[in-house]
Amino acid sequence: MGAGKSTAARELGGTDADDLVEAAAGKPIAEIFREEGEAAFRALEEQTIVLALGGGAVTSPAVREALGDTLTIWLDVDVDTCWERVKGSDRPLAQDEAAFRRLYEERRALYADVADVIARDVHDVVLAAAGIHVEHGALQRLGEFVPGDTSVALVSDPHVAGIHGMDAQLALGSRLAETHELPPGEEAKTLAALDRLWQELRLDRSGTIVALGGGCTTDAAGFAAAAYLRGIAWTPVPTSLVAQVDAAIGGKTAIDLPQGKNLVGAFHWPARTVIDPALLETLPEPQRLEGMAEVVKTGLLAGDALWELPDGELVRRCASFKAAICLRDPLERGERAILNLGHTFAHALEAAAGYGGVTHGRAVALGLLAALRLSGRDTRVVEEVLRPRPVAVDRERAWEAMQRDKKARDGELRLVLLGADGPEHGVVVPEADVRRELDRLIA
Ligand SMILES: NC(=O)c1ccc[n+]([C@@H]2O[C@H](COP(=O)([O-])OP(=O)(O)OC[C@H]3O[C@@H](n4cnc5c(N)ncnc54)[C@H](O)[C@@H]3O)[C@@H](O)[C@H]2O)c1
Ligand SMILES: [Zn+2]
Repeated sequence: MGAGKSTAARELGGTDADDLVEAAAGKPIAEIFREEGEAAFRALEEQTIVLALGGGAVTSPAVREALGDTLTIWLDVDVDTCWERVKGSDRPLAQDEAAFRRLYEERRALYADVADVIARDVHDVVLAAAGIHVEHGALQRLGEFVPGDTSVALVSDPHVAGIHGMDAQLALGSRLAETHELPPGEEAKTLAALDRLWQELRLDRSGTIVALGGGCTTDAAGFAAAAYLRGIAWTPVPTSLVAQVDAAIGGKTAIDLPQGKNLVGAFHWPARTVIDPALLETLPEPQRLEGMAEVVKTGLLAGDALWELPDGELVRRCASFKAAICLRDPLERGERAILNLGHTFAHALEAAAGYGGVTHGRAVALGLLAALRLSGRDTRVVEEVLRPRPVAVDRERAWEAMQRDKKARDGELRLVLLGADGPEHGVVVPEADVRRELDRLIA
């Protein structure tokens, strides 16, 4: 500190990492420290060092060497599209089309050589940066995607193990050291289930837990990995739609307490996330609908009809949308809150029904209706794709649950709504309006 590195970096035509952090956070470092603490600054620092290299940069051996172990992503776009974008510009190497096309061909081999990952578009770039691999048939090649070459413990739910467990075991081959089962559903997310798992695990600190299953399995096994030996690597292989588009993305892991869901957990970003949309073919229809509620939520936030896409693309786009937000706000200090669109209402309905009385997906579908109405938006999409039906719960209990949520947030009811310029979080809405919309969701 004080050595003059910032001045030196700028003198050399480089950029100081502190400048990047400030630009990303939108405020000076002193303010980040004061308002959010040093840990938050370090987290930002870790996430912020992203370099966009020009097309010719890797022709220099020095640049190639400097890239070393750094994750290098090749944004591979076809030459016609590239030319369309640059023709007529003042870029010196984009004046003559034939020369441009020659350069493109010449450099491809070099790009292939330095790239760790090839991306087709910005969504692929985000997924690569987040360590998420989406590919039809990825389960069959699971062994290639689990980082490192150390031992693996495969953790799954008994139902999913029966359908896809053998494929996972074959794909892990000789790296598979242990297999474990968690109880099905929310039972996995209990201290008793984890106590048993922790006692059974034999991995040392270099091992990896691979979690094969829905969101309950990935939440529980992820937390098991976060705490076992003070934290070992883990790789979720989500098998339900909920888990592929939501639960396995973003590094949140948790178990439940009798007092409520997800009350004990940790932020523990996976070493790699392997998503095989083909696994959804065996998913029962009601489970699919659970996931579609989060897909519609994501599409509304992204301002794009993601729910209309075929499975592979739907999963890729939803996963990348959530991953981008989580990379920018890993510890949920701000922007990440938008992912709760519709969820304040949903949680109130779930609490009023007693957990298990109404599924999360159905409650989210209803919550999205309320959020859209309060945002002055059309609700047709939610009605057509999710067909939400009002739930028969006690109105007072639901309203009380909403009040508890309010107490947890400094005394004001704050919601995520869709504004003219996109999603907004922390929006204060008059209580009477909130109460009216909550009532409309109840049969
Ligand atoms: N960590 C997060 O950020 C986050 C986000 C959203 C949800 N969650 C958590 O996720 C959990 C819900 O996840 P879920 O809906 O996947 O529940 P789940 O894990 O219980 O799976 C639902 C059911 O589908 C079955 N199943 C899963 N994949 C299958 C497949 N390919 N073929 C056939 N059957 C399959 C399972 O065996 C189970 O019976 C909740 O506990 C929730 O709190 C976490
Ligand atoms: Zn949800």
